[in-house]
Amino acid sequence: MAQTRKIALHYLHHASWSALPDDDRELLELAVKAARHAYAPYSKFKVGAALRLESGEIVPGSNQENASYPAGTCAERTALHAAMAVVPKGVVESLAVVVPQVKGNRPVSPCGICRQALVEQERRQGGPIRLLLGVLKGPVVETFSAEALLPLSFDSSQLGRKAR
Ligand code: THU
Repeated sequence: MAQTRKIALHYLHHASWSALPDDDRELLELAVKAARHAYAPYSKFKVGAALRLESGEIVPGSNQENASYPAGTCAERTALHAAMAVVPKGVVESLAVVVPQVKGNRPVSPCGICRQALVEQERRQGGPIRLLLGVLKGPVVETFSAEALLPLSFDSSQLGRKAR
């Protein structure tokens, strides 16, 4: 007999940036700045990200496209992989994402591939990554982990081996 099982997503919806602590606001502002370095001649959709490591180091990222459309990289993975390339044992505490030109009041949230990469990082570092998804002069959605955004996810345990 089938059972209905439920997975609930708990997140915070902040009506504006002003209610956030200074370091979160700063991270969102750095994500806005990072979007200036996006290379998005195809989509014209410039995304900025900024992550903060537990050590306090901040690493920005932006989407980087190319003529082979699917081969581009999102802002989130650009920041994550740049951070891991230089601080391989780093622990990502928070990741802010902003699309300064977004239409409407709904923050952009990571695509499926980025969610998978962020979940892998959570396993790697043994702790959650807080996401701050902001609309410029608008609301901020705060989630407590990436895993929560990718329920029933695929991971290395199903490959029968541990990532090392
Ligand atoms: N993109 C990101 O960089 N992050 C997201 O969260 C959503 C989508 C990029 C990928 C592509 O360069 C452009 O936005 C349009 O999809």
